[in-house]
Amino acid sequence: MFRRFRRLRLSGNMRSLVRENMLLKEDLIYPLFVTCGGGVRRGIASMPDVFQLSIDEMIVEAKAAYADGVRAVLLFGIPEVKDSVGSDALSEHGIIAEAIRALKAELGNMLIFTDLCFCEYTDHGHCGIVDPKTGLVDNDATLELLAKQALIHAEAGADCIAPSGMMDGAVASLRVALDGAGFVNLPIMSYSAKFASGFYGPFRDAAGSAPGFGDRKSYQMSPANAREAIAESLEDEEQGADILMVKPALAYLDIVRTLRENTSLPIAVYNVSGEYSMLKKAAAFMDYNRALTEIMIGFKRAGADIIITYHAREVCRLIDERYVCAIF
Ligand code: PBG
Repeated sequence: MFRRFRRLRLSGNMRSLVRENMLLKEDLIYPLFVTCGGGVRRGIASMPDVFQLSIDEMIVEAKAAYADGVRAVLLFGIPEVKDSVGSDALSEHGIIAEAIRALKAELGNMLIFTDLCFCEYTDHGHCGIVDPKTGLVDNDATLELLAKQALIHAEAGADCIAPSGMMDGAVASLRVALDGAGFVNLPIMSYSAKFASGFYGPFRDAAGSAPGFGDRKSYQMSPANAREAIAESLEDEEQGADILMVKPALAYLDIVRTLRENTSLPIAVYNVSGEYSMLKKAAAFMDYNRALTEIMIGFKRAGADIIITYHAREVCRLIDERYVCAIF
């Protein structure tokens, strides 16, 4: 009878010694929704404990998160005015540019990732410029505008640009634009395996970005396809992406694992809004902290290096309380 594994699990120190995966505060990226005005901290009905924050309140939240141990945020802008081309995203005085500058000035060590997309800025809610003839997103016209938007983020002080709109050739074209403007050391985190998912529902509520017509199936991936997700991710790597991403996370951990075995780049998982809200609701029926910890360690076990999650501050708290060590 082999008892080896059981023996290794018996005592606390031995269990720690043989633990294969660990959660670190440094793994986390905390998404924040930035809105106009001052003193605004507006709850989001579908996302308990998540808020739309004006820039001043966003800084308060970011400082509190930094004190908890969060070292990176992912900013989403919600502009005052949306139009067909997403003009706010193309202005150096747009919501996101102002937010980046303000946060850099107040909390210089916090890494700022910026979501690069048009769906939060356009009145139709699509991720790019819509061709009026076809009603579909015009890929190449969108690429040009994405490059402009990226330079605005870069000049404002972003630490990493995260294109999320799934346009073909986006990474290569952004790399050229950033290098051309002297931002050769600014990394790109590509939303490289982004599935057309029902789990984005609450986000569209949070960012007011539900498509006004049609859906995103023409530029997001089919949940049925794994090989396609790996191929697209590796294509982004070839185009110069510095970090790859799988999104959503929970239903796609096989993609994380396969990607881990096919790239040496860092991999991020995006634990999206619907996954967050689902767990919040389920707290009535099970041990929330325990389920949350299992989910987070599951991401690491699957092969993720980076976890983008609305739970980031809660995870820091669990780490502080050594909860993670206690249950594994
Ligand atoms: C697009 C974007 C979305 C999310 C992140 N970036 C929305 C979408 O693709 O529909 C969703 C994140 C979440 O659900 O938490 N800018």
